[in-house]
Order: sequence, then structure tokens, then C-alpha cells
Amino acid sequence: MKSTLSVVGLLSLAIATQAELMRFKLQRTNVGYLHSSFHEYDDLAQKEFGKLSRSHDHRNYGQFSHLGGHDLYTMDISLGSPGHIFNVQIATGTSSLWVPSSKCSSPTCRLHPQFNSSASWSFHPLEGRFNIPTSNPYNHHHHHHHHHSCEQRVKGELSGTVGEDTLSIGGGVIEILGQSFGEVVQEHGGGLKSALRDGQVDGVLGLGFDARAATGRPFLLNLVDQDLLQRAVFGVYLSRHDGDDEGDDEGTIRGSQLTLGGLDPAHRLVDIQWHEVTRTAQGQWTIELTAFALRREAFEIDGQAVIDTGFPYIALTRYQAEMINLQIGASETSPGSGMYELPCRSVPTLFDFIILFGLEEYQLKGHEYVLRPTSKDDGRSGGAERLRRTRKEMCQSAIMGMDFSKESGVIAVFGQVFMRKYYSAYDLEDHKIGFALAS
Ligand SMILES: *[C@@H]1O[C@H](CO)[C@@H](O)[C@H](O)[C@H]1NC(C)=O
Repeated sequence: MKSTLSVVGLLSLAIATQAELMRFKLQRTNVGYLHSSFHEYDDLAQKEFGKLSRSHDHRNYGQFSHLGGHDLYTMDISLGSPGHIFNVQIATGTSSLWVPSSKCSSPTCRLHPQFNSSASWSFHPLEGRFNIPTSNPYNHHHHHHHHHSCEQRVKGELSGTVGEDTLSIGGGVIEILGQSFGEVVQEHGGGLKSALRDGQVDGVLGLGFDARAATGRPFLLNLVDQDLLQRAVFGVYLSRHDGDDEGDDEGTIRGSQLTLGGLDPAHRLVDIQWHEVTRTAQGQWTIELTAFALRREAFEIDGQAVIDTGFPYIALTRYQAEMINLQIGASETSPGSGMYELPCRSVPTLFDFIILFGLEEYQLKGHEYVLRPTSKDDGRSGGAERLRRTRKEMCQSAIMGMDFSKESGVIAVFGQVFMRKYYSAYDLEDHKIGFALAS
């Protein structure tokens, strides 16, 4: 690993003596209001898993603004030589890597670092363009090497050029030569602003393993190809509370982190339960969802669930989400939105939400699957007003309804709400995903 040698002076002892396990701290940022998150699953999650229909009405946004926010977990990456830094979201639900291009002149692009290929001596352009539709993905896979016409001009879309350059993370702990990525040059339908979470992140680093990803060979496959991992395994720990991410000791990371080449025993309480990945041919981190239940109401199902660190909630089919949310006394925020709210005061009395992956059982408590309005939101009102609001304060159910196309083969998405409770482990060698109660 020559890259490790070249920066050995910068490495902490812990990393130098445990070359097989590389730890990378993830930054956690709270995204205040739900209208941001609405943009998000509108454009990012729906792009990956769903079919957008009724919820596409922008007039609805205002109605969500009093509801709770969620968090983003991001990491700095460097692209090019000399390196250009981008703060990207880590998403196991996609295999693409993209950042804004200096060729992009939209106001949204200008708010972010922009990759300038002429300024990097190690850059190589690739043929073709990439195109990431923001809705209904499984009906039309776009690949950068396939020329495609405009037969599907979907609303909300990112497009641009594809190239290869040096990617490094952790200040050079890992350096990949010739990493393919997409430079976003154009956006349609506000796709970029929402994909960048209203300006909170600069791009997305997909941890999927689809060799035909829209922006070229994925990061994870390159790590393996270039022999940069002791084992083709990685783990993700997402901290439960904001404060957890402060005060790292030397060599250890207390807060949210990504480990490459191994798993971190410090962030789990029990052994990992493993589940076979079901859609290996598609390069997707999916597992079998067998059933879920709330009290005595159990739903036996048989389908694939995507495990996505880049998705804030748990998405089920619209029908199932409706059933579950009715049971907890939550009502849809507006018809067809797929989002549900309930009075915060009922949270302590809620039943556990039980999930069966294969035959293993996982449980989320009421306060784990219902999100409170963030303190950021609270700060806007003073004493008496705050008291009044607390009494009838509404919380957001993290179980949302989404349309899944038949072609996608997917019927659920498990995101950060689940991973704050369960450490998640991804094994590319044996095609397994594992979970263990996080500590
Ligand atoms: C990109 O870099 C080149 C070479 O350094 C420079 O001449 C050009 O102005 C840059 N373009 C933008 C849009 O910043």
C-alpha cells in the first residue's frame, strides 16, 4: 500500500498498527426542517427505489415545515491532482459517485466546490455521459457507455460527463488511482438542489457494487481491484445523538464512522447476525425482508429490502406504511405524501416495531422510529409559545410509504433510523449484510 507509506507521518498509531482496519470519521449534520427531507426522498430515494406519483406536488412542502428534521452523515473526499475536497454523503443504496462540475453554471453548483478537470493533471475523460433520473429508476437503467436518447425526459434529473481521477480519503490513508465518477454539468427539475440536501453536501459516494453504475466502476470494486483492503468488508456506525460525535480520543473514533477492510468491535454490543445479499447481480445491498409487526398485527411479506446509509427513514409500500401508521395513531400529513405525523406525547406508549430479516428479529422502540422536531426548530419560539407547542407538538413517524415499481424487485428501504440502533456490516466476499446492536 504505497499510499499508506507516503502519508505515514500523518497517521495515528492506531491506524498504522492495524492496517487491516481503516477507520474514517463521518461528520454528522442536522438538517432542520422536514421540507428538506421531503426534497430528499423525492429526488434521491425515489430515484433509487421508487416511482414518484402523487407526492410530487411542490405546493405541499410548506405543510411539513413544522416537523422534525434528520441528520446527514458525510465524509471528505479528495478528487484529482492536486486534490479538490468534497464533502459527500456515504450511501450504500447507490453505486455512483458524483460531484458538481466547474462546467456547471447553475446557481446550485456555484454554492459548492466544483471539480475542474483542466486543473487536474491526473484526470482522464471517459466516453459518454451519465444521467441519473430522480424517479422510477428500475424501469430505465442508464449507463455512461451506452448512448441514450431523450426518450425519458423525467422530471428532476442530474446529468453530466464521466471521467477518471485519483480519489483519496482520510487525508491519503486510501488512494485510488483512476476512480470513475460523474461531474454534474446539468440539472433538470431542481434535481441537484434537492440531491445536495439544500446545500448541505457536495455530492454522493455510493458504496454499492453495481459494476454497471451510471458513473462508471464503483469505489468499492476499485478498492478490491487495487488490493487496498485486507478483506472486502466494511462497517458503518451512525451515532444516536448529535453530541456523540465529539471528543474523539487518539486513535479511536467515538462518533459516526465508516471502517474499510474490517469491522469495528468497539461499536457493537453483541455478535453480528448475517444475512445473505439477495440482489448480487444488480450490485445492490439488499436482504430478504420476511415480516414486520406491531403488537399483534403482523405482516408476513416476502421481498427485498435495500439497506441504505444514505436514506434517513424506513420506507415500506404505501399500503403497509398506512397500516403501521394507523396502528400508532399517526395520520398522513397530506393525502399521498407518504409521510405520517402523530402527537409527541403518545411516543412513550407506542409498541415496539418488530422487523424480521430472514429469521432474525430486530426491534425499534417508539422513540427510535418516531422523530422529534429538532432543537433547531424549537429555537425559533420563546417560553410560553414553546410550552403551548410542546403540549400539542407533533412528531414525525419515520415509517413512510413509497411506491415501488415491480421491476425494482424492492419493497422496502431501511435507512439511518434503523442503523442508529444497529451497527451495519457489509461483506462483499461472501455477499452478506450483518447487524449488531450498536454501542
Ligand atoms: C479550470 O482550471 C483551468 C486551469 O487551471 C483554469 O484556466 C480555468 O479557469 C478553470 N475553470 C474554472 C471554471 O474555474
